[in-house]
Amino acid sequence: MQHFIKQSKQKRKKIGFVPTMGYLHEGHASLLRQCKKENDISVLSIFVNPKQFAVNEDFEKYPRDQKKDELLAKKEKVDIIFHPSVKEIYPDGYLTSVAVERLGNYLCGKSRPGHFKGVATVVAKFLNIVLPDVLYLGQKDAQQALIIQRMIEDLNFPVKVKVLSTVREMDGLAMSSRNNYLTPQERKEAPILFQTLNSAKEKILAGEADIHSIIEMMRSTISKNTTGRIDYIECVNARTLEPINVLGGEVLIAVAVWFGQARLIDNLMVRIY
Ligand code: PAJ
Repeated sequence: MQHFIKQSKQKRKKIGFVPTMGYLHEGHASLLRQCKKENDISVLSIFVNPKQFAVNEDFEKYPRDQKKDELLAKKEKVDIIFHPSVKEIYPDGYLTSVAVERLGNYLCGKSRPGHFKGVATVVAKFLNIVLPDVLYLGQKDAQQALIIQRMIEDLNFPVKVKVLSTVREMDGLAMSSRNNYLTPQERKEAPILFQTLNSAKEKILAGEADIHSIIEMMRSTISKNTTGRIDYIECVNARTLEPINVLGGEVLIAVAVWFGQARLIDNLMVRIY
């Protein structure tokens, strides 16, 4: 990988990079398409990163399908797939990690302690290996995108970041490799996340100022109509992820709900002037 990158740099090629954990879907494809369009070389990494899974989480059963991923990569004209082994990325004796303070403690960080440290660490390593000019991330993982952007700024990685909008199924469900875990019944219920996010956004734009009543509305819609177990429903400052008491500026409405074995997340941004 480093040899290929060195050669590409010598030829003054512009390198775009899309890091993933594989089991690729249209959300990943949209990043790859944009990457190919804006760069000479598009690099895709596929690596299910053990450091971002807690011991009780789904590292072992995270879906993997190399053949299908290779087909999608080919269709999106990816120039090179970086698919390292765990041992290559974390050889014996590996000790270093990257922690972005504070931002990692909110939202998903509360129920997944250590998760974002694992994400920041692997992305830092990949940036050092791939040396991309542009890094492509998805807004579906809004907190992850913010944390990676913070790390890039704080540690002076010479890379530009582009965060692309969430790609959804026809019924609004955000595409995710973890949708694969859903039973047919859970799959029917899951679009409620996007529906409640939209109702909340509409209410806010119509002038509703009481955050607690908006969150309560979302909570009761989800619990009355689905088997989902709510992890969190929050309205936070879209830049700092701090909880807000008064609606104003850029607000991120973010949800995480368990449907059976699948923990699904989704979010919407609302700009209030
Ligand atoms: P993964 O979940 O495979 O996602 C890879 C990239 O695709 C992330 O930037 C994510 O935000 C984006 N993505 C996922 N679903 C999307 C959708 N429906 N629409 C648009 N973009 C979407 O996120 C990770 O992997 C890992 O944490 C990683 C950054 C690779 C580090 O291990």
